[in-house]
Amino acid sequence: MRESRDLISREVLPEDEAAEESLRPKYLLEYIGQERIKENLSVYIEAAKQRREPVDHVLLSGPPGLGKTTLAHVIANELGVAIRVTSGPAIERAGDLVAILTNLEDRDVLFIDEIHRLSHQAEEALYPAMEDFTFDWVAGKGPAARTYRLKLPRFTLIAATTRSGLLTSPLRDRFGINLRLEFYTDDELFQVVTRSARILGISIDSEGAREIARRSRGTPRVANRLLRRVRDFAQVKKDGKITREVAREALAFLDIDDIGLDRLDRQILTALVEKYGGGPVGLTTLAACLGEDPGTIEDVYEPYLLQIGFLERTPRGRVVTRRAMEYMGYPPKREQGRLFEGI
Ligand SMILES: Nc1ncnc2c1ncn2[C@@H]1O[C@H](COP(=O)(O)OP(=O)(O)O)[C@@H](O)[C@H]1O
Ligand SMILES: [Mg+2]
Repeated sequence: MRESRDLISREVLPEDEAAEESLRPKYLLEYIGQERIKENLSVYIEAAKQRREPVDHVLLSGPPGLGKTTLAHVIANELGVAIRVTSGPAIERAGDLVAILTNLEDRDVLFIDEIHRLSHQAEEALYPAMEDFTFDWVAGKGPAARTYRLKLPRFTLIAATTRSGLLTSPLRDRFGINLRLEFYTDDELFQVVTRSARILGISIDSEGAREIARRSRGTPRVANRLLRRVRDFAQVKKDGKITREVAREALAFLDIDDIGLDRLDRQILTALVEKYGGGPVGLTTLAACLGEDPGTIEDVYEPYLLQIGFLERTPRGRVVTRRAMEYMGYPPKREQGRLFEGI
C-alpha cells in the first residue's frame, strides 16, 4: 500500500527534492503546457520590466505537483530578480514577516507556499505590505506600546495554494493576478517525460514515454516520479531501455492501472459503490472508512477523479459516476435497482 501511495502522491517526497531541482524548468520557454497562463504572464513580465516596476502580486492555485513552485521561480528568473521562499505555516507571527520583508531588494519576489495556512495575525500584517509596501510594527506592550510604520522595498508576492477556497476574500482580492493551473494533457506530459529523460540520461523510446505520460494523472510531478521508478525497473529487470513493453510491465508491477489510478483511488471508488450505494457520502465519513486523512483525499485524490469525471461533488456529499462504475467493472445503475437512483 505504502509503495503505490508514495508513487502517486502529488506531495513532495524527500527523494523528489534533489531530482526536482535538476528537472525544474527555469524559464517560460522550457515550461511545458499552461499556455494561457504563460501568455498572460509574459505580457505582465515584459510590461513590468519596461517600467522597472515590480509585477503585480500573483496567486497560483491548483492541485499538488502541477508546477506552482516551479512557476514562481520561473517568474523571478524572467524578471531577473531574486526570490525569497517561505511558507504559510513557517510564518507564525507578524514579526516573522518583518524580517523577511525588510530583507528584500527592490522588485524582488517573495514566494509564500501554502498561503492558506498563514496565521490570521500574519495575514493582517500582509495587507498593508501588499497594498502600499508598508508594515505597521508595534513595539512594546500596553500603554507604552508605539506603532511604527516601516517603509518596505517594492516587491511581488507570489503565493501558492492547493485550497484557494480557504482564502479569505480580503486576501484574495489583494492579488492582481490570479492564476489557476490546469491538469496537463497526455501530449504535454509526453513532453515532460521526454525532457526529463534527456536531462537524466535515461534511454526511452517515444512509445515508452507515451505509456508513462498516459498514466501520470495529468501531473508533471507524477510523470517524473514514474519515469524514475520505471527506469529502476528497466535497469534491474531489463536491459535498461524503456520501451512500451518495459513501461507497461513496470507500471503493472507498481500497481498503477491503465489510466494511472493507484490503489487508494480504486479504494475510494469501491467504498463509494459497495458501502454507500454510490453516494452521496460526506468526505469525513468516506475518509474514516478508508482510514485516511480527509485533507489528503480532498487535495490529492479528488481533484483528478473529478477531472476525469469519475466523481462528483454534490451538496450532500461525494457521488460516484456511471463512467467510474463502468471502468471499475460494476453493472450499469439500472440493473442495480434503486441503489443507484439519480446518478
Ligand atoms: N510546466 C512544467 N514543465 C515541465 N516540468 C514541470 C512543469 N511543471 C512542473 N514540472 C515538474 O514537476 C515538478 C513539480 O512541480 P512543482 O512546481 O513543485 O509543483 P507544485 O508546486 O504545484 O506542487 C517540478 O520539479 C518539475 O520538474
Ligand atoms: Mg510546490
